[in-house]
Amino acid sequence: MTVPVITIDGPGGSGKGTITQMLARRLGWHLLDSGALYRLTALAAKRQGISFNDEEGLVAAALNLDVAFEPTAPGEPVRVLLAGEDVTGDLRTESCGDDASKIAVIQPVRDALLQRQRDFQKMPGLVADGRDMGTVVFPDAPVKIFLTASAQERAERRYRQLKDAGVGVNIDALLEEIRARDERDMNRSAAPLKPAEDAQVIDSTGLSIEEVLDQVMALAGQA
Ligand code: DC
Repeated sequence: MTVPVITIDGPGGSGKGTITQMLARRLGWHLLDSGALYRLTALAAKRQGISFNDEEGLVAAALNLDVAFEPTAPGEPVRVLLAGEDVTGDLRTESCGDDASKIAVIQPVRDALLQRQRDFQKMPGLVADGRDMGTVVFPDAPVKIFLTASAQERAERRYRQLKDAGVGVNIDALLEEIRARDERDMNRSAAPLKPAEDAQVIDSTGLSIEEVLDQVMALAGQA
């Protein structure tokens, strides 16, 4: 029997991380945060002194990632351990996201992470969050969602998140970073960010998380 997969792709700040977590919890399914694997590879490379120009070194870092995901209380982010060390906070920084986006343009790095991502497909089902879940990693998924929102709204969401966490940031600088990251993720030749042909596109601009979750739940019934 094939394990059902729901893919949720889209740009950073579209709410896909939150929606993926809520959906996986409601369905009682496994969750794949593929962005975390790119972030972890970048972090591991930095810690091992591997340059982002060293393709072979990056591939080795991706293949040898010693990572564990530990469940936490509902609503809390999953705890991520790299070589036994809690790196949950380090992974969520803007600079780590930016580093991840830089190494993610390298096709051999993407290839090195492919099987590790597919290994998350286990019974009773998987909700997979990323950029290329529906196009490359799980092309046969029965339900594919592409979640988007305007760059302005995504910058505002991120601004509120960081402010709540006590981090002072400039909203114009955030908007600039978001635009630059979109540009890199969408225009790379390796698995560019774009909706799969059979994906349902949901624009979350102006919608609450609950409104988006309702739409996603209605689609999830088809998995
Ligand atoms: O979703 P995120 O912000 O954690 O992802 C960080 C970067 O990793 C993103 O800018 C591009 C890259 N990424 C990718 O190329 N493919 C994925 N499936 C997930 C993330």
